[in-house]
Amino acid sequence: MAANRALFHGAPPPLSAKVEGSFAYLTVRDRLPTILTRVIDAIHRNKNKFFEDFGEEGVRAEKQTIGLLSKLRNELLTDKPILALCDGLEDTDSWNQYLQRQQSLLGEQDPVSWFKAPWLYVECYMYRRIQEAIWLNPPISDFDVFHECKTQSFFESQQAVIALCTYLQGIYRNIDDLSETQLMEVFHKLLQVSLWGNKCDLSISAGVENSQKSCPIEFLSDLKSFILVDDSKMVWSALTFTQRPGENGKSSLGSVDIVLDNAGFELVTDLVLADFLISSGLAKEVRFHGKSIPWFVSDVTANDFQWTIRQTMAANHKWMSKSGVQWQSYMREGVWSYHDHPFWTMPHEYCDMAGDAPDLYATLKGATLVLFKGDLNYRKLTGDREWDHTVPFDRALRGFQPAPLCSLRTLKANVQVGLQPGQGEQLSTQDSSWMTSGKYAVVQFCSPHKEQ
Ligand code: F6P
Ligand code: MG
Repeated sequence: MAANRALFHGAPPPLSAKVEGSFAYLTVRDRLPTILTRVIDAIHRNKNKFFEDFGEEGVRAEKQTIGLLSKLRNELLTDKPILALCDGLEDTDSWNQYLQRQQSLLGEQDPVSWFKAPWLYVECYMYRRIQEAIWLNPPISDFDVFHECKTQSFFESQQAVIALCTYLQGIYRNIDDLSETQLMEVFHKLLQVSLWGNKCDLSISAGVENSQKSCPIEFLSDLKSFILVDDSKMVWSALTFTQRPGENGKSSLGSVDIVLDNAGFELVTDLVLADFLISSGLAKEVRFHGKSIPWFVSDVTANDFQWTIRQTMAANHKWMSKSGVQWQSYMREGVWSYHDHPFWTMPHEYCDMAGDAPDLYATLKGATLVLFKGDLNYRKLTGDREWDHTVPFDRALRGFQPAPLCSLRTLKANVQVGLQPGQGEQLSTQDSSWMTSGKYAVVQFCSPHKEQ
């Protein structure tokens, strides 16, 4: 991948842990080392499994991996320079070029280190270094250090999953009789369910259980006032725009891309929304984008995606298993597809995508709508910078406009744009943690097509 060209031009500086007391600082100082300790624990707890699977070699790999991760933890805690990767994988050179780029921005005399570099970069780098430690020890290189907490979070949300699948199957029974207004109402509900599903990530809680206990459908109206920007009507217009007859009198159904965030309950909310898009005829195809390595504790990998569909199918509950069977057949028929481009696990802001991952950008360009789930995607959309809250969303995207896009995000990092004048100040007086508690959310839309 080419170097990151977009840094700084006409944009405020990126958030960084160098600002003592900031959320970025506290994350790097406290939350990231805690996550590393939990990763080390998870590997240690699986020692017997490694022995059963690979004999003494598995135990040696466990020890060596823990050694590398302890060293990483120490580098982080003592603000050591960021090191080049050495695992020789597909993305290694891109990571090392990105480091050089950061170094030239900082100047040669000061090494790029954990507390001096942009927060987005070092946080992504930590997850890539965890993967390097695993990959350098081949017998255990398939081990997902976050697998246990992701599956646990799915099981702990069972009641909410059942309630959601039951709601979905109820819609099916009379979907052909729904008027356009009723379809729109269901769409808005499911969009909000997917939005609030984003509360359940395991990175903000440093891996501690954070699941959904009850069905959010019942609470949507109570939560409405916590949505700071709600562009969902524009999202509906973008979706239905292609269905209006064109010049030749024919209408065409579009495809929707969902850039996934977390496994567990949030993934189920995304699958339910995607199911509705297909079954209601709002889209002809949904492409899911996940991560190719374990990422930010709870993010979806191909394995999590397939596992979730299999678990849903195998459930003991009629409507839940029916939903799972339906999802499996969408996958088999190619109506749904799963993709994991390496760009999603790079530290780049998304305005770099056209230059650094042109194939991915071209894929997104073909969509009627791209939904970006979660907080990390929002940070990458806006470059994780010190934007003024009133800067318009499209300006913060800095030219990243492959297709009509929408961010569905609960706020868990201190970057927020597109607010009304005074709105940010008012929120700060009411609740000092409004940007990081996950209590507030945004549905922010932007389209390159003027008519939408
Ligand atoms: O570690 C902090 C962080 O990057 C926050 O920005 C956010 O809370 C979390 O990790 C990831 O959140 P999400 O799963 O919504 O992308
Ligand atoms: Mg996440």
